[in-house]
Amino acid sequence: MLDRCGRTIDYLRLSVTDLCNYRCRYCMPEEGVPKRRHADMLTLEELTEIAAACVACGVKKIRLTGGEPLVRRGIVELCRALRAIPGLEELCLTTNGALLPQLAAPLRQAGVDRLNISLDTLRPDRFAAMTRTGTLQNTLDGIRAAEEAGFHHLKFDTVLIGGFNDDEIEALAGLTLEHPWEVRFIELMPMGPCAGWDKSCFLSGEEVLKRLPTLQEIPSQGVARRYRLPGAAGTVGLISPMSHEFCAQCRRIRVTADGKLKGCLHSAEELSLRGLHGQALLDAIAQGIAQKPLRHHLTSGGSDTARTMNEIGG
Ligand code: 5AD
Ligand code: SF4
Repeated sequence: MLDRCGRTIDYLRLSVTDLCNYRCRYCMPEEGVPKRRHADMLTLEELTEIAAACVACGVKKIRLTGGEPLVRRGIVELCRALRAIPGLEELCLTTNGALLPQLAAPLRQAGVDRLNISLDTLRPDRFAAMTRTGTLQNTLDGIRAAEEAGFHHLKFDTVLIGGFNDDEIEALAGLTLEHPWEVRFIELMPMGPCAGWDKSCFLSGEEVLKRLPTLQEIPSQGVARRYRLPGAAGTVGLISPMSHEFCAQCRRIRVTADGKLKGCLHSAEELSLRGLHGQALLDAIAQGIAQKPLRHHLTSGGSDTARTMNEIGG
């Protein structure tokens, strides 16, 4: 379906929980987020019904997000139900990897096509400091489990943070030399806990190009610019919401774990889908797509959303 700016909307990011087993410093306060009432969260049946309605409205790809989607009880059953929706071409999931040692194989069997794994550093001390509750080894075990389960074209999401991991750009990109992986460097967006951080933490994606002068640009789809190191099996991606606004290429809508349709991550506009069924649900989704904002205002006034990242799903 087209929005009012003529963008094709065919990608749904569906948040299945706002809870997480990590407390990444840029995303979550140390004490975590106030636990919402269970009754406020969409049930697995509601999530499936909303996803199917979005597919009926033209969505071809669904990505499950969180918080951390793998802490949601019933996640494997949910994936199986979503994969069975006729017309859905791709089911993906973004995870911090901590629960992949147990869940990679069941998720693959349930029909998940692709995984993105958050990986901000390859140094155990930094990993523990940034996530506050995680260990690098756990995520590395998760990556191995994902490979063994048959997820071969993994993508890694690395949030670029000045003074934290900018000296690891070469090492992280180096993972693509031998593996058919994509390592994507994401510009830190000033939302939630990191909104007040020092300017020096916010690096432009151009920093990656400066550090890796041999990167060769290759054609890209979606919001990432893509590159390859000479002779590499995999690719490097740059996601630059701050320095290279990509709103004109945005094909996505979002649904939060409490059932609100959002046209844009950074918009305050939300449309409640809860309690809607059949034609009323389809009409609400069509309205939400039509109202998708033209662009965000991150570089002028900041994010307009009152929600933090763990509530929207990155
Ligand atoms: N800026 C950019 N990306 C963020 N994420 C979370 N918070 C931010 C932020 N402020 C993304 C990261 C993380 C995923 C769960 O959400 O990519 O890996
Ligand atoms: Fe959890 Fe991801 Fe937020 Fe880290 S960035 S606290 S892993 S939701």
